[in-house]
Amino acid sequence: MTSDNCILVIFGASGDLTGRKLIPAMFDLMKGGHLPDRYKILGVGRSQYNDQTFREKLNLETQEEGDDYSLFLENVFYQSADTASEDDYRKLEERLTELNRKYKTEGNYIFYLATPPQLYSVIPRLLCQLGLSKEDKGWRRLVIEKPFGVDLESARQLNRDILSCFKESQLYRIDHYLGKETVQNILVTRFGNGIFEPLWNRNFIDHVEITAAESLGVEKRGGYYDSSGALKDMVQNHLLQLTALVAMEPPASLDSDAIRNETLKVFQSLKPLDRENLNKHYIRGQYTSSKIKGEIVKGYREENGVDRESRTETYAAIKFYIENWRWGGVPFYIRTGKKLPTRVTEIVIHFKSTPHRLFKKAFGTMDNFNKMIIRIQPDEGILLKFGMKMPGAGFNVKEANMSFRYSELSSVQLTSAYERLLLDCIHGDSTLYARGDAVEACWEFIQPLIDEDKSGKPQIFGYPAGSWGPEHADDFIEGEGCTWRYPCKNLTNDGLFCEL
Ligand code: BG6
Repeated sequence: MTSDNCILVIFGASGDLTGRKLIPAMFDLMKGGHLPDRYKILGVGRSQYNDQTFREKLNLETQEEGDDYSLFLENVFYQSADTASEDDYRKLEERLTELNRKYKTEGNYIFYLATPPQLYSVIPRLLCQLGLSKEDKGWRRLVIEKPFGVDLESARQLNRDILSCFKESQLYRIDHYLGKETVQNILVTRFGNGIFEPLWNRNFIDHVEITAAESLGVEKRGGYYDSSGALKDMVQNHLLQLTALVAMEPPASLDSDAIRNETLKVFQSLKPLDRENLNKHYIRGQYTSSKIKGEIVKGYREENGVDRESRTETYAAIKFYIENWRWGGVPFYIRTGKKLPTRVTEIVIHFKSTPHRLFKKAFGTMDNFNKMIIRIQPDEGILLKFGMKMPGAGFNVKEANMSFRYSELSSVQLTSAYERLLLDCIHGDSTLYARGDAVEACWEFIQPLIDEDKSGKPQIFGYPAGSWGPEHADDFIEGEGCTWRYPCKNLTNDGLFCEL
């Protein structure tokens, strides 16, 4: 696909995201020959760099080297500006005009907001005042990082503010999970294969489990995280987007709106959580100090930037239903947490057992053998579990695996989420970005939980860092002998004692 020449303008360029994700993604795109012939990157930030010192900073941060990288950096520029000052925007406009004229980038600009969220309304308004949102001299696109609002009302307000300057078709709200190759593969698995679709509904699926576990804690982001928590940081966006891809109806085409209309319908069909019984739907946890591999690790409240009496959740598990013909009565369980035993994100489709259970598992228990595990990361792939007779007398049945791993595709490397998302934005394809109505629908769904958290009523359960979260999280899952799957790093294994 050919791409239009353009300038990527990164607001908040001196921040961590630029050096860690955006610049490496653009560099990889350049190496892969995906960028337009004439692309330029203009970093904008308060810090006082010039083009040269900014390039030197990126050099240190990204740890890339070689001739290719030096050539790439020649396309990177810097403009120091106070992003809230109108005067500085005039200077920015002059700089853009100058770069555009010199490098013939055809007036196409992507404005990427990698700033603190307080500036998400301000920057578009000031760009708009200078006419930089108008598309008469080239296209103009606005990329907005998460968090998009902190609750339903603020998300609505932010949508109103931005939509008064830019059209929805110019907006690219980032949910980096949608940029992950394995997340997009959910669509292909479901809608590119005739064998799964007949089973993909309430008649054959018992329940669905989605886990996004992280072994890291809050690291250097204690200040931000303490005002956010797992519910807003992971559930409202990443986990609900995964839910939508698992649960949506087949779109009429691969057109951006066709896909996004279907995901919106899922959000609109989420059964509202019963405000009177939220404890039946929601478990909150916070990691406490413990010993991992012989080393004492800090509890959440001892982390830098975190209130010593914080009630912010670092673990959240939610049970909910989707009220439509496909999913009526099927529970969805989602959980996420920091300082869990391993980093793994996966979706587990638990199929119903046979109507009459003839066989037992080899070690005596009855079980549903059939599960499909869609592994988002790491050891990306798909695993299908089914029962198989153990050789020998009797009918002992063992769980057997059939799997596909991306690592088996030796000729192909998984691209980073930011690489894919930036390239899509350059191509003007917003399919993998969240639409305003969907973002609001997700906030609407979790708003009762936000209100409950604010009231200070819900319990927060401590869990030792390095464990799988609050002890009673297993009781959450209905059904005989049902628990969460305890995934290992390796796709095919699970259990509490595997290699992590
Ligand atoms: C971010 C959250 O959106 O996603 C982080 O703010 C979290 O807290 C991260 O660590 C997880 O992303 P990934 O791609 O590592 O699963």
